[in-house]
Amino acid sequence: MKDSTHKHIAIFASGRGSNAQAIIDHFKGNTAIKVALIVTNNKTAGVIQIAKDNRIPFDIISPAELKEEETTLDLLELYQIDLIVLAGFLLLIPAYLVKAYPNKIINIHPALLPKYGGKGMYGSKVHETVLSNKETETGITIHYVNEKYDEGEYIAQFRCHVEPSDSTETITAKVHKLEHEHYPKEIEKLLS
Ligand code: GAR
Repeated sequence: MKDSTHKHIAIFASGRGSNAQAIIDHFKGNTAIKVALIVTNNKTAGVIQIAKDNRIPFDIISPAELKEEETTLDLLELYQIDLIVLAGFLLLIPAYLVKAYPNKIINIHPALLPKYGGKGMYGSKVHETVLSNKETETGITIHYVNEKYDEGEYIAQFRCHVEPSDSTETITAKVHKLEHEHYPKEIEKLLS
C-alpha cells in the first residue's frame, strides 16, 4: 500500500468536499506527498464522488465505529497514514486518535478562532453569526486537533474583510477561497 517515496494523507470530510478537492488537485503528480485515503461519516457526502472520480480509496465510518479504537487505527495503519486532515469533518476526534497521532491531525475552521468556534459552530452557522455580530473581518484558522472542538494549537490564520453588503453566501465564498488557497500549502509545509 505504501510506496516508500510518498507521505500519506487521509482526508476526513462530512460534506461537499470542496477542500478535499483542492487538496487532491494540489498534490496531483507530487512525488513526495499523496492523498491515500478519504474517510467520511456521511454516506451522501459529495466527497465520496470526489474520491471515486480521483480513484482514491474511501471509507464510510459511523460515529460508533469512529469510537472503536481498533477499527479506526487498523484502517489508518493499512494506508500508512502520516497526516490526518480534517476538511469539514463534523464528528469529534476521539482521545485515543489524538494520542495515536500526536501533532499529526489538523483541522480547518471557517473563522478567526477563538471567535466562533466550538461544538455546533460549523459551515454557514459560523458565517451567519459573524454577520449578525457585524464583524468587519473574518477568515480561517488552520490548527492542530486535540480532544476538544477547535481548541488545538494554531498553525496559521488568514483574514478577509466583511463588507456591509455581504451575505452568508458571499462570506462563504470568500472563506472557501482562502481555504482552497492556503490549506493545501500549509499541509505541504507540515509534511516537507
Ligand atoms: C469548510 O468551510 C470548513 O472550514 C468547515 O466546513 C466547510 C466544509 O466545506 N468546517 C467547519 O466548520 C468545522 N468546524 P467543504 O466540504 O466544501 O470542504
